Amino acid sequence: MKKKHNKSFKSLSLIMLAILILTFYSISLFRDKEEVQSVFVEETSDNDIIPKPLRYEKGTGKFLLTKDSSIYVKGNNEAETEELSRIAELLKEKLKPSTGFELNIIRGEKPAVSSIYLTTIGGEEAQGNEGYKMITTSENVKIIAYKPEGVFRGVQTLKQLLPTDIVKSTLVTNVEWSIPVSTINDKPEYQYRGLMIDVARHFFTEDEIKRQIDYAAQYKINRVHLHLTDDQGWRIEIKKYPDLTLIGGSTEVGGGPGGYYTQDQFKSIVKYAADRYIEIIPEVDMPGHSNAALASYGFLNPDGKRKPLYTGTDVGFSSFMTHSEKTYEFISDVIKEISEISPSKYFHIGGDEAESTKKADYDYFVGRVAKIVEGYGKTPIGWDPIDTAPEINSSVVLQNWKDSNEAAREKKMKMIISIASKAYLDMKYNESTPYGLDWAGYIPIETAYKWDPTEYAPRDLILGLEAPLWTETISTVEQMDFMIYPRLLGYAEIGWTPKELRNWDEYKIRLEKQGERLSNQGINYYRDSGIWK
Ligand code: ACM
Repeated sequence: MKKKHNKSFKSLSLIMLAILILTFYSISLFRDKEEVQSVFVEETSDNDIIPKPLRYEKGTGKFLLTKDSSIYVKGNNEAETEELSRIAELLKEKLKPSTGFELNIIRGEKPAVSSIYLTTIGGEEAQGNEGYKMITTSENVKIIAYKPEGVFRGVQTLKQLLPTDIVKSTLVTNVEWSIPVSTINDKPEYQYRGLMIDVARHFFTEDEIKRQIDYAAQYKINRVHLHLTDDQGWRIEIKKYPDLTLIGGSTEVGGGPGGYYTQDQFKSIVKYAADRYIEIIPEVDMPGHSNAALASYGFLNPDGKRKPLYTGTDVGFSSFMTHSEKTYEFISDVIKEISEISPSKYFHIGGDEAESTKKADYDYFVGRVAKIVEGYGKTPIGWDPIDTAPEINSSVVLQNWKDSNEAAREKKMKMIISIASKAYLDMKYNESTPYGLDWAGYIPIETAYKWDPTEYAPRDLILGLEAPLWTETISTVEQMDFMIYPRLLGYAEIGWTPKELRNWDEYKIRLEKQGERLSNQGINYYRDSGIWK
């Protein structure tokens, strides 16, 4: 009996033990699940990073930036260390006004406690040029990338992990400048993430463009396309043809004074953008949208006389003479001068809305101009229907603004997606938007966010996307801000974050918090009442 009792006691204990083990196991499984879930919850409510990183894992604790913090930099070679120092310098300048800190920049790979460390040592090729890893502990923030460009992208994330007051231009004393302990692994989906500004319909100064470049850089935009010529204005100095700017640059839509960039000013914009890892892409729109050139030089017209300047907003009435050698000599000179001051491998030749050029003449013209551009070592980009011209092939990039890109698909041309009904920054948000156009429909913030370039072309042909701001109705910095922001943040995220990780309801929460950052920088963004209650 005793023995029996003993035996059953033993088996009972074994069963109890098994139950205990199973319970612990399932609790720990549940825990794991909970932790995974809490990472997700924290990801959505604890940071407002836009564009959303590929992977964000939050730990416990925080890194504290203080007046004694330093920025350490070290590359794989002297040139990289130099480049990283320049990135550190920009970061230091950004952190200074609000924190009041004069951070030291130190060249070295043994970062002291409470420092930020920017490095390419240990960066991996798989990160690509723009990927980065950011490891934040209670002691340091380290950004490790394969290339300095990736470090720069990571620095934009770093700034967004600091409190929103960090972007204020005046001293803030009641804020703790901390970053949550976390690990981020990040790289972009698309290599081309662009903003276009039409400086032809209304002119914007060098400083106004630089301001937009600086703001766009914080959302990891990496291309700014300048639409430099149109019917209403020629905005880039061409030394061989001074009347292009003297006459062609002298006005704008509505008859205002217009303006233009000297070549030195253009170079200064290019340098300012390059320091922020943004490439400037110049556009000379041809053969239509060319009245400003035709108004500057008689030899570009059939009757040898200058056309009148134009300050209206019609399109499709102007054309270069497509069978005049003088036209091609002129265009070649223009492309040569701009190419010499434009390091981008791309040169945009327009090609849209050439409604007063016969199709056969259009085809001949764009084919010839693309060859001229290639002769100066550049890759031509053109708006559709440039892809339909027989001489245009896969060495040309299509910027797709309508949804007709069949020819480009057939020719396997690479594409930049800028579908007007989704990506045009000049479209009104809704019927009460005070300026902007609506021919492609209204584009509320949600519409601007909820689409994907692969809806318009096969993934392997897509370089990325670009959001154009046409300026027929936009003449001030405040108006420009209003149309660009906050929609550009959505375009930046579409370009950076894979579509599987994007979700409107979750994005909206991050966007709401980003509003404070926009306000703190003095950006006149559209405060949609559906997002900012
Ligand atoms: C365009 O909107 N005309 C490219």
